[in-house]
Amino acid sequence: MPVQPQNPAPADVLVVFGITGDLAKKMTFRSLYRLERRKLLDCPIVGVALDEWSVDTLREHARAAIEATGEPVDDDVFARFAARLSMVSGDFADPATYDKVAAAISGRVNPVFYLEIPPFLFGRVVDGLATAGLTENARVVVEKPFGHDLSSAKELNDQLSAHLQEWQIYRIDHFLGKEPAMDIRYIRFSNSIIEPLWNRDRIEAVQITMAENFGVEDRGHFYDPVGALRDVVQNHLLQLIGLIASEPSSGGPDGFRDKRVDLFKCIRPADPSHYVRGQYAGYLDVDGVAPGSQTETFAALKLYIDNWRWCGVPFFIRAGKSLPVRATEIRVIFKRPPPLPFLEPVKEQNQLIFRIDPAAGVDLVLQAKESGADAPRAVNLSLVFSDEMADAPEPYERLLGDAMRGDSSQFIREDGVEETWRVVEPLLESPPPVEIYQPGSWGPAGADKLVAGYPAWHQPWLPATK
Ligand code: BG6
Repeated sequence: MPVQPQNPAPADVLVVFGITGDLAKKMTFRSLYRLERRKLLDCPIVGVALDEWSVDTLREHARAAIEATGEPVDDDVFARFAARLSMVSGDFADPATYDKVAAAISGRVNPVFYLEIPPFLFGRVVDGLATAGLTENARVVVEKPFGHDLSSAKELNDQLSAHLQEWQIYRIDHFLGKEPAMDIRYIRFSNSIIEPLWNRDRIEAVQITMAENFGVEDRGHFYDPVGALRDVVQNHLLQLIGLIASEPSSGGPDGFRDKRVDLFKCIRPADPSHYVRGQYAGYLDVDGVAPGSQTETFAALKLYIDNWRWCGVPFFIRAGKSLPVRATEIRVIFKRPPPLPFLEPVKEQNQLIFRIDPAAGVDLVLQAKESGADAPRAVNLSLVFSDEMADAPEPYERLLGDAMRGDSSQFIREDGVEETWRVVEPLLESPPPVEIYQPGSWGPAGADKLVAGYPAWHQPWLPATK
């Protein structure tokens, strides 16, 4: 894989395609505003969209969008931010649009183009930018989904690489921008007590849960052709496996990415007989969902990693909408201690839990003596990082800031995209039927059978309610 230049120049302009869209409204303005507040924004921002918006409309929309996220808005900071904004209106299929973009960024030599537009437009926009002579030093940030299977991902990569080198393409997976996900590397590799335990000799299984306590809501048109496996497993949750299971890397952006890709290459293609799909009752009534749709809103699967560290250790994943709680965690479950004559068997094995959402934290489940009784009991050494992380960068804030600085280490490379599609491809080809589950339950019964022979799914570790 080609490496990026040693000292990438910071962006001297950010161009946002699709600035009038939903993602910009929910995430981008807030993230850019927060970068402005932290004095990390240092260039003009040009919005591009079909809508004929004046710059004043764009500024008003930006302020309303930031306020709607609940972010407190400081007038001075916002004024600095608003002064950076300008607007180019035009059809992405019209070459004149790219001439207008060229005029708007004339004199700038290190542009970052952020394409928050549907992927079928990526090729067209990159063609337009290249024809207008704008891609030479550019970095191009693209949003998921990167294809809907292995061959469409390759096609998309071909379209991008027709005009861009790999180091210029920044593929976002916002889970990699989550502070607690980045923390996994620190906890694993800056503590000498953990690494010796991190292998098949000591670990029985790993459970990854991503539970959401809401349904598909107003996203039926987007979600129905996609489903849980493509929406969050192939990308977000496999990336978490990349963080929890990869080897320590050399430095530099490609150091981390090489190790994650090496790990993905060792994941056995997923087996459809270890795959459970569920659909919550009521999903078919969601606007935009096809009549009789068989799309899964819940996916549970078992994966194996064929390398020295992990051979034989199952990695269980479950992800779903309309489950009882919102919680994303990785639970590493250690083997049972041997039976000893003086000890009652432990009820719960040692576990190390990485809580990604909500309220990032780490919990170590140990065994100690039950007070007043001759029996072991589980005790928790839990650390909740959320207080000290109160002002930690939001995922998009972190990732857009990185892209503007030219740090690609938390972005996904072409080989990473293709390897993760390779892993889930058999599940896409031979999906089991969906099982209906009740909203507010833990998904279909099949998910419990999936873990047979291993510890049952644990209730996620949730923040204490005040
Ligand atoms: C998105 C999915 O990528 O991630 C959504 O499309 C999902 O369906 C979301 O709800 C979850 O992200 P987060 O950061 O809220 O856990």
